[in-house]
Amino acid sequence: MANNIVVIGTQWGDEGKGKVVDLLAPRCAAVVRFQGGHNAGHTLVLNGKKTILHLIPSGILHKETKCYIGNGVVLSLEALEKEIAELSDSVDVFSKLRISNACTLILPTHIALDQAREIQRGSEAIGTTGRGIGPAYEDKVARRAVKLSDCRDEENLKEKIMALVGYHNFLLEHYYNAKAMDALEIFEEVVQRYRRIQQMVCDVSVELSNSKKEGHSILFEGAQGAMLDIDHGTYPFVTSSNTAAGNAASGTGLGPRDIDHVLGISKAYTTRVGGGPFPTELFDDVGEKIATIGNEIGASTGRARRCGWFDVPVMRRAIINSSVDSLCITKLDVLDSLPEIKICVAYELDGKRIEIAPNNPDDFSRCKPIYESYQGWQSTTESVREYDKLPQKALDYLSAIEKLLSVKIDIISTSPDRNDTIVLKDLINE
Ligand code: GDP
Ligand code: IMO
Ligand code: MG
Repeated sequence: MANNIVVIGTQWGDEGKGKVVDLLAPRCAAVVRFQGGHNAGHTLVLNGKKTILHLIPSGILHKETKCYIGNGVVLSLEALEKEIAELSDSVDVFSKLRISNACTLILPTHIALDQAREIQRGSEAIGTTGRGIGPAYEDKVARRAVKLSDCRDEENLKEKIMALVGYHNFLLEHYYNAKAMDALEIFEEVVQRYRRIQQMVCDVSVELSNSKKEGHSILFEGAQGAMLDIDHGTYPFVTSSNTAAGNAASGTGLGPRDIDHVLGISKAYTTRVGGGPFPTELFDDVGEKIATIGNEIGASTGRARRCGWFDVPVMRRAIINSSVDSLCITKLDVLDSLPEIKICVAYELDGKRIEIAPNNPDDFSRCKPIYESYQGWQSTTESVREYDKLPQKALDYLSAIEKLLSVKIDIISTSPDRNDTIVLKDLINE
């Protein structure tokens, strides 16, 4: 039976979702993004050639797979056009991508507001990607956003943009002491950009539903990660959308019963980019070593990622919030040279041991990790493609993770390359 699979990050993003979606995509009819926007940076590597995607789904390199941007995504037309241009040598995006008419638009004033707010927060800055994601979602929820479908009627679009940008300008000038922007110029730019991409705009929910009726698999591509979820993450140091698997339904217009399997992607350690609490963060040579070997530099913003040990309480919360059925562990190879590897198996909070990351941000920021120590395997797992060829101590580390989480590992990734992957179970045709 063909399964519809949701791929989500179970940590703070950058777990390797792009690689795994690219790996599974050729056997699916469709790959769909359901939340976030171009704050994402998903890296695909094939035979040394790297492609970084922000808005365009990670199925784009496969001829037979259609790609969709669902209604839950906040869409920057500028970022979309830039990405289409970057891919134009190898892919005709126009023939492969479809975009929901219900997407919320990110306007240049959303970006200005995002950046002004970060400046105002000072030392409490969230460390956003500065791409206007938060302000665009705010306008959506406040019911004043401009939707892609508004672009069909230019008079109507003009009215909406003038009103919205007028409101943004008031905030920028009078609350943030920042520069106002030209609303008419923004309107004219949106009109031009929409004309160039309008052939891709459609009712994504209906197209996906038809594809499903024909018996094809759909892959839902999550962005960010569980601990960046607006409701379940480390608020306020989160993104402005629900990253949990349930949003794969609302963010595409399919229903929750259209999801058959939730695959959680997790690094063999933990990283975080931007501000906010991170209990297992390493500030020593080991942390630096992991960052260097793991090349832990953000795919979107180029910022250094903070590194720490694998965090079981965080994973347990992610598994609860997204009904994670199985896991893919990535970047196992990054730990190859370490003599000792730690796993945070629980936290200590106010003298008590707790097993699951608390959902109260104040409690979470006071949690202290309780570690178990494992011997490193100190031999190479890089590019290993067979389970039996992994060193015994690496297998022990992976089974410790499975046991602590009571969730099976179905995929193991051993390098950035699509093919350097150990697939233990066929998730698409179970
Ligand atoms: P995403 O946002 O979840 O798609 O992840 P990113 O692309 O932002 O970050 C993951 C990084 O790790 C990228 O540079 C990938 O090429 C790289 N990567 C993915 N899997 C592996 C792996 O198994 N080993 C190594 N060494 N790198 C990997
Ligand atoms: P992918 O899909 C890692 C982080 C930012 C910041 C917070 C809020 O590549 O895993 P935002 O711009 O969304 O308002 O920023 O969320 N963040 C990510 N961190 N990977 C991502 O995406 C991220 N997208 C946003 O660093 O801390
Ligand atoms: Mg990323």
